[in-house]
Order: sequence, then structure tokens, then C-alpha cells
Amino acid sequence: MTSTSIQITRSFTRSLPKIELHAHLTGSISRECLHDIWKQKKAQKPDLDVEDPLMAIPPGKVDYDIKTFFPLFSSYIYRLCNDASSIEHSTQAVLNDFEADGVVYLELRTTPRATHDLSKENYVKTILTIIASHNKKSNNKMKTYLILSVDRRNTIAEAEEVLDLALKYRSAGVVGIDLCGNPAVGDVRIFSDTFARARVEGLAITVHFAETTSSATDEELLCLLSWLPKRLGHVIHVKDEIKKMIERQNIGVELCLSCNVHARMITGGYSDHHFGMWRHSTVPVALSTDDVGVFCSPLSEEYYLAATHFSLDRRQLRELCEKAIPSIFSGSKEEQRLREIYAEWDGLTL
Ligand code: IMP
Ligand code: ZN
Repeated sequence: MTSTSIQITRSFTRSLPKIELHAHLTGSISRECLHDIWKQKKAQKPDLDVEDPLMAIPPGKVDYDIKTFFPLFSSYIYRLCNDASSIEHSTQAVLNDFEADGVVYLELRTTPRATHDLSKENYVKTILTIIASHNKKSNNKMKTYLILSVDRRNTIAEAEEVLDLALKYRSAGVVGIDLCGNPAVGDVRIFSDTFARARVEGLAITVHFAETTSSATDEELLCLLSWLPKRLGHVIHVKDEIKKMIERQNIGVELCLSCNVHARMITGGYSDHHFGMWRHSTVPVALSTDDVGVFCSPLSEEYYLAATHFSLDRRQLRELCEKAIPSIFSGSKEEQRLREIYAEWDGLTL
């Protein structure tokens, strides 16, 4: 039997070395981890006025849409992960989860956030410290880097602060800058100078792109493309002219199947996902989870879904992973490490 004719199993997609390029730190925290944090806080402070995560975000509930998704963070998860100890604990748990799922390269993104005991800068430093010690673990095949996000609700001054932090902590593992947040709010044009400065400084750029029809006007998309991003997240509501520009500029696309289906950001189901179109294009494609803590589909499951709904065999899945390599932000040394991992990997027939 050849590797192409063997059925795709979940154990295969777990063992496949995978590259995750679009994962929000806070959105990647599992409900169990949030529950642990809640339990510890409740034990220390019995009158804690935060609902048990297992009640507030019931296990199995994944149908968060654009209206219910963002308040989950602002009104709930940020109230729980609001100090150094919960941020350390949850960051470590997120890294462990990605590693256990067979991820070999992770670019995690987060929006710098001040808590009652951390400044935005110390929030970033805390996360970088956890990442650095995880990267150093001797039996760990996964290497993690950090992207700092500007939120669409930010002021120009706040966006500048994110960029300053990204530049200051570049040598400690920050590899890029992102634009995220509720696509229904904000005017992206106000961030043009900040992203132009990032570009001049040589910091890689990714942006959430055409997530909803309201954030997919020509004006917005042409503005975002003028920032010369190396990658784009979601890329849902794009017309042919924009697709051609993305292909001409060879911009990588970060595609999130489960998130888009559960949040009803696309019409139809998995087989209707625009991955079906992008996989035939020449640009780097990175299947990604976005918020595994909310949509409960780890990266191995995203590859399983892609195989199931687009009839991909084992070799095609490995090629798909490798296709993301040129769009990583950390540079040629990591690109080379990843190429070697795939060249040496002999799991096709396992
Ligand atoms: P954090 O940046 O680590 O706090 O991760 C959670 C944040 O990521 C949320 O508050 C949103 O601003 C952002 N985010 C997560 N998923 C999405 C998405 O699909 N679109 C836009 N922003 C997102
Ligand atoms: Zn996202």
C-alpha cells in the first residue's frame, strides 16, 4: 500500500509536524485551563465575582459568532486572566497544548494588555519569558515566536506603543505585528503611519483581512495591502481583482476552517470554505486555528477536516504543511530547520 492510499486518521494528523501561524494567545486557552485559574482564584477569594468558565463557556459550545465572540474576551476571559500568575499559567498551558498536538513551529499573537499587577510592557515580557524557557526545553521540537497585535479599537498612540514594544523585544522573540479585533469597529486608515514605520524597521506584518463584508470595502482592503503585509488572516470576502493582487505579491494566507464555519463567517460548510480555492493558488497557505480555546478544534483537527472535505491524501497534507514555510516571520534559520524536519519525517505510512 502506498502512503497516498492509506486512510487519513486523527493519529496521523496529530503526528504530522505542523506549522501554526494564526493563533491568538487568549483565544487559545482551553476551558479546562480557565477553570483551573478560576478554581485557584475562588479558593483565594471566595467572593470572586466571576462565573465558573465551565458554566460561562459550556464544554462543547462552539457556535460563537461575530456578535457573541468579542464580548467573551472583554466581559469574561480578560476578567479571569488579569494578573501575572494567570497569564503565566495560561501561556504555559497554551504552549503545552500546541506541542502535544504535534505543532513544530508556532507564531503566537497577543494584544499587549495592562493588568492590575502588570504594565503592557511587563505583560509582553512575562509571555516572552515563558516562551523562552519552553523553547529551551531539551525534548521540545516546537519553537515559538511572538507577534504583537494592534486592536482595531486602539488609538494611534496605543498602536504606536504596540509597535515600540515589538521593536524593543525583537531580539527576545517578537517577530511581527498584527491588526486584529472586532471587524465591525474602527477605521484602519488611522494605523497607516504605524504600519509604515513597522515596515521601514523591517518588522513583518500580518493583518486580519476581509473577515466580514463590512471590513471588506475596496477602501479598507487597498489600504491594508498598501502596508505590504507578508501574510493575511482569513481572506474571506475578496473579489477577483484583490485575489490577483494577493497572488501577484505572493502574500501568504492564514486560513481558519472551523472558526469560519462555527462563527458563520462563510456561507455553507467545510467543503464551501475558500481553502478549496487558495490551495490551488501559488501563495503560501497556512491552515491555522485562530482561537482553539473557543472553537475547540486543534490544528491536527483542522488538517483532518481539510483532508476529509477536500479529499487530500497523506502526501498532500505534508506538502500543505511545507507550503507555509516561506511565509514564517522568524527568518531563514527556522525555515531551514523546518525543511529538515519535513525531509527527515518518515511518518507518511504510520
Ligand atoms: P489576545 O490578543 O491574546 O488577548 O487574544 C484575544 C484577542 O484576539 C481578542 O480580544 C480579539 O481582539 C482578537 N481576536 C481573536 N480572534 C479574532 C478574530 O477572528 N478576528 C479578529 N480578532 C480576533
Ligand atoms: Zn484571528
